[in-house]
Amino acid sequence: MSTDIALIVLAAGKGSRMKSDLPKVLHQIAGAPLMVHALRSGAALEPARQILIAGHGADQVEAAAKDYDPELEIALQSEQKGTGHAVAQAREALAGFEGDVIVLYGDTPFIRPETLEAMVAARTKHDVIVLGFEAADPGKYGRLITDGDALEKIVEWKDASAAERAVTLCNSGVMCASATLLFEMIDQLSDDNAAGEYYLTDVPGLARAAGRSAGVVVCDEAETLGINTPLELMAAGQLFQDTMRARALSDGVKMQAPDTVIFAYDTVLGRGAEIEPYVVFAPGVSVENDAHIRAFSHLEDAHVARGAVIGPYARLRPGTEIHEDAKVGNFVEIKKANIAAGAKVNHLSYVGDAEVGEAANIGAGTVTCNYDGVLKHRTVIEAGAFIGSGSMLVAPVRIGADALTASGSVITEDVPAEALALGRARQVNKPGLAARLKAHLLALKAKQKG
Ligand code: UD1
Ligand code: MG
Repeated sequence: MSTDIALIVLAAGKGSRMKSDLPKVLHQIAGAPLMVHALRSGAALEPARQILIAGHGADQVEAAAKDYDPELEIALQSEQKGTGHAVAQAREALAGFEGDVIVLYGDTPFIRPETLEAMVAARTKHDVIVLGFEAADPGKYGRLITDGDALEKIVEWKDASAAERAVTLCNSGVMCASATLLFEMIDQLSDDNAAGEYYLTDVPGLARAAGRSAGVVVCDEAETLGINTPLELMAAGQLFQDTMRARALSDGVKMQAPDTVIFAYDTVLGRGAEIEPYVVFAPGVSVENDAHIRAFSHLEDAHVARGAVIGPYARLRPGTEIHEDAKVGNFVEIKKANIAAGAKVNHLSYVGDAEVGEAANIGAGTVTCNYDGVLKHRTVIEAGAFIGSGSMLVAPVRIGADALTASGSVITEDVPAEALALGRARQVNKPGLAARLKAHLLALKAKQKG
């Protein structure tokens, strides 16, 4: 952990243009709220402190923030009077903190950790560092007015002259300075400007006036992409998917149709893993080297070890551990279960709250009946057991090692190791009865017609 970095993430804005009741920073890309993407970039600096400025939908924003990191601190900005005013709300939380502060926006999800590291490194040269970019279309971004290597000031579009508007080097919003200097300058902000707001962007100019220096680190425009509308959210989501796919391919993951594979923000795929078309990764999935995820499978909060084969059409739900060389086949759902090495659950089964031992074989249509309407119960299937097709395993229940359950059994009692369990009615054959029954029914039908 770096004891000298604090992150301040601005997330108080409403985001009216999202046309949604959900606060803007909680809209998701690849299964994580926008602000979590920003926090994750900042996390690469191992900050000692993280302060989120919440305002609109503060309760929801706080809950999501705590979900991401329980140690994250929240400061409230009940009235949104500008980005400078937002940063001022972190002053109390950071009282006595003497390191550097990095300010990020919660609606700007793609700043790379390397870029933030470059900003921190540039602090040896200047007292304030602003992250800028060359804008293809500078629009209404704040403009960076430079003087050689130094940043003279930032001018907001609304306040800029025609000459200043012609500048294409724009402000991303990310800023780094020592906490002491930052809050000193924030004390001097005024709202005497075109927007009537306290601009954070006045800090570099004020620092210069106080005899300190400011500089710029330039990043790619794509990193500074901010989300304001549902269309921008969709486009950013697609961009993110493209990046994840390209990264996976260059890491040696095999994908025949990468455009059909959907990643979560935290998907981890090992080298040589093969992902067939139309696979969806929800958050929390890791797939080890040389595992094979076949088409149309959906995985969430699951780990798949080397050599395992999943799908096609499989669903791995939270808490699933698939060990080496295990197989989970079509129309199989696994939840909170451990499938040991070499075990097979090949067809049409539900395995939940369960332990499946090494090399056990679960026949088609097996169900672990884990829920009694109130409580959940565990099923344990020991190594080498063979579960006959259509077995209902009514939990809590244990099937011993190398035991066998007859197909169609309802198993309500533990089965000792190596035993055969039959839990079904005995079959009775009535010779000729089927033919007689059919004749009887045909006669009835003829009578009805006549
Ligand atoms: C800001 C910058 C501009 C820069 C642009 C980049 C200022 C004054 N301007 O403009 O130079 O080019 O970002 O996208 O900083 N927020 C709060 N509380 C507030 C106001 C804003 O938390 O009182 C948050 C918003 O939720 C948002 C971020 O700060 O996440 C930026 O605010 P926004 O209103 O979008 O600033 P811009 O006008 O885009
Ligand atoms: Mg903005």
